[in-house]
Amino acid sequence: MKLLVVLLALGGFGALYGFKICDRKAPGTIMGSPTNCSEFYMCRDGRPVLFACPENMYFDVDTAACGYEAFCADNDVDFSQDPYEPPVQEYSPIETNPSQLVTGQSLMCRGAPVGAIRADMTGCSAFYQCTKVGPLRLECPAGTLFDSNRMLCDPADIVSCAYAPPPKPPAPSAGNMLELLCYGKKNGYKFAHPTNCARYVVCNGNNRAQEFTCPSGTAYNKLRKICDFTHNVEC
Ligand SMILES: *[C@@H]1O[C@H](CO)[C@@H](O)[C@H](O)[C@H]1NC(C)=O
Repeated sequence: MKLLVVLLALGGFGALYGFKICDRKAPGTIMGSPTNCSEFYMCRDGRPVLFACPENMYFDVDTAACGYEAFCADNDVDFSQDPYEPPVQEYSPIETNPSQLVTGQSLMCRGAPVGAIRADMTGCSAFYQCTKVGPLRLECPAGTLFDSNRMLCDPADIVSCAYAPPPKPPAPSAGNMLELLCYGKKNGYKFAHPTNCARYVVCNGNNRAQEFTCPSGTAYNKLRKICDFTHNVEC
């Protein structure tokens, strides 16, 4: 029984780390994990976000960035009071996808100090940490986006994203010829069906096509843009 209590306490202890380490830290602060040298936290209101350095890299507490030669030390956490608090699940960190070093020439971190955080200019689902060996791409966890004003991952609906790409009309699927023919056409645009004389197509303005069949004895007249007697229509 005693053992079980200790195990439970340790379990709760682990879950609480992410929260304790961010206690009284400004939102957006990056903190190394006291239990794993390759992990670090992004503090925010609510659950902190847990990130991991790429394989063979460790979080360097001096530069606040992942590196190959990292100084990893216990962080300034008061362990003495934690173990006997009940585990509070909501404080367990939100885990993220693996991080990725950006290889090749990249201007993103040029002139920036190691540890600097940079927004992604192409969207808001990720951000970059400037490391000694180049920018490290970090994805915000599901349901969150990177706020380029406050420089942290927060719920998508409250995030201000300066780099959201303008919404593009959905590209037509190569398989659907009619939608391809309607691509970029305005609502009501009408044309002859490419393979069936008795049919015509109307675009709805959203790159969608609707097919119609002319009444029996008629066919679609391309010039007059109506269903016409078949003897008036060249097929
Ligand atoms: C430390 O974190 C990394 C990345 O999340 C993980 O792969 C590794 O297993 C962890 N190490 C320990 C000892 O928990």
